[in-house]
Amino acid sequence: MKYNLILLFAVVALWGCDQPAERSEQTKERIAQMKLATDHHSYARPNEAKVTHLNWDAEVDFETRTIRGVATYNIESNGSAKQIYFDMRDLKIDSVSTDDGGLVSFSIGESRDFMGQPLEVPITGATKTVSIFYECPASAAALLWVEGENPFLFTQSQAILARTWIPCQDSPGIRFTYHARVKVPEGLLALMSANNPTAVSPDGIYEFDMQQPIPSYLMALAVGDIAYREIGPHTAVYATPDLIEKAAWEFAEMEDLLVAAESLYGKYVWERYDLLVLPAAFPFGGMENPRLTFATPTIIAGDRSLVALVAHELAHSWSGNLVTNSTWDDFWLNEGFTVYFEQRIMEAVYGREVSEMLAVLTYQGLEKEVSEIMDLNPNDTHLKLHLQGRDPDEGMTAIAYDKGYFFLRLLEETVGRDKFDVFLNSYFSSNSFKVMDTEQFVDYLQSNLLDSTLVEKVNLDAWIYGPGLPDNCPTVHSSRLDSVEMNLKRFVAGEAAPSDIPWKDWVYQERYYFLDNLPDFIGYKNMVAMDKAFNITGTGNNEVLFVWLRNAISNNYTPAYARLENFLVNVGRRKFLTPLYAKMKETNQKEMADAIYSKARQNYHSVAVVTMDELLGYAE
Ligand code: BES
Ligand code: ZN
Repeated sequence: MKYNLILLFAVVALWGCDQPAERSEQTKERIAQMKLATDHHSYARPNEAKVTHLNWDAEVDFETRTIRGVATYNIESNGSAKQIYFDMRDLKIDSVSTDDGGLVSFSIGESRDFMGQPLEVPITGATKTVSIFYECPASAAALLWVEGENPFLFTQSQAILARTWIPCQDSPGIRFTYHARVKVPEGLLALMSANNPTAVSPDGIYEFDMQQPIPSYLMALAVGDIAYREIGPHTAVYATPDLIEKAAWEFAEMEDLLVAAESLYGKYVWERYDLLVLPAAFPFGGMENPRLTFATPTIIAGDRSLVALVAHELAHSWSGNLVTNSTWDDFWLNEGFTVYFEQRIMEAVYGREVSEMLAVLTYQGLEKEVSEIMDLNPNDTHLKLHLQGRDPDEGMTAIAYDKGYFFLRLLEETVGRDKFDVFLNSYFSSNSFKVMDTEQFVDYLQSNLLDSTLVEKVNLDAWIYGPGLPDNCPTVHSSRLDSVEMNLKRFVAGEAAPSDIPWKDWVYQERYYFLDNLPDFIGYKNMVAMDKAFNITGTGNNEVLFVWLRNAISNNYTPAYARLENFLVNVGRRKFLTPLYAKMKETNQKEMADAIYSKARQNYHSVAVVTMDELLGYAE
């Protein structure tokens, strides 16, 4: 806070020199935004000049896998800036013009791997718009082009990949509205993080508007043979025709989730909440692109058991998309709040028994990850991260999500749920469309929720600026999972056969708990017996399949290897890939890992490729 205040005073003082005494509302707002912390992952200098609106005109070419376009930005400067800086990575810039179309001589700085390059455009105090004519190559890291009979293109911009398909000020603290006109091959549907079409346009041209200002990491585009099904008055799903019916059934409760979310933390401001089921190569579970969550098809389980992911992405409509982490060092403000909110939605819609089972699984995952990260780099277990000079992707661990969650749960348990909900409601409403950093949040917390006694009681500093999990981490308890634990113990001790285990009565969380908590080496015979009794290799639940395949690798359970290979070749969700390849490596089955990876790699998105190359020793 101290730092922010000094910065604010400095900025106000500097600006004071040539500003009239009475400031317009717009100027006041601008000065307020000057509090922006420096983002080490962007070349933009928003305190000098920043974008406010994007007009994007682009053509998507599947033949050459390129996007050619022009990005015209409305800009706002402090009046004395001589240049505006954009981020770009591997883009080919053809020309840059300002205002009435006069070409200007731009310059492109040195490239630093994941950062890309600064694009410097000369401006004067009078410059209103900057147009960048460019081409985005087939190799653009944000994009995945799916080949074959059903061509598909999708983008993944978070954390700093927006700059690989649009030159932009790629920092979460800089928001802009946008209009887009996109031409795609005839017969394909185009969707963005904006108002969306529900049917194919005959000429392949689509227009989009996003009238609420968003940061660049929420820019998104998908193009493909995509069908549409309405769910409720404000909700719908999009998916390829082969999946649309299944998807509509799986996500039929989306409107209920939305209603529950609104009654918890205030009005949904983005008008519609739709979900697009992407090809299985999507590297994440979900991505909270405003108005249109992008989701992996691996959450289609046939029994609606994996909708927590939808609750999560929906929750980001408040935590993240309304109140946005200032830099990637504050990532926990996006994800920790979102996991907390997700849990509250799950509790409201499915009951506390279900949400507490999820919380137990979360706690177990967190404990493991904390101990792994403590061995590698203990500082990465702090909620407040220090990612300067590193790829922000390195900070995207369970710490932000789940240590963040347990910290907020501790606050809830300390002050009581009613008080905490009032606090969160006003946190979201008073910080809407604003940027939040960890220090500002701590201030906000101290002014609005915790007195100094409570600050000490919760051990705020240890949680935010300290390693590991503090002693006062809330404990979670689920009697249903206790009973799974009992079955597990008896099975492992040889006192119970698979036929004694009530597997068929168990829901996904119970099955996952059972498989995830088996000892690593349970033996081939036990694997055979379980598979015979429950046909786990044939399960349609990808979370259950994932833990089972991990056990299969540990136990050399070869009957599951065909499914393992099929899974790894078709699914590109990094959360599944990393532990499976790592387990093969750890158990002297690296050859199998290499053989599978050689087939699968071409199907993966760049963010998964980067991680797997590193893990399997293919990184340059
Ligand atoms: N915003 C994240 C995905 C993300 C984070 C992409 C960082 C790139 C960089 C999204 O909301 C998310 O957290 N997805 C999770 C699912 C969730 C249920 C924990 C995922 O993809 O696994
Ligand atoms: Zn998230």
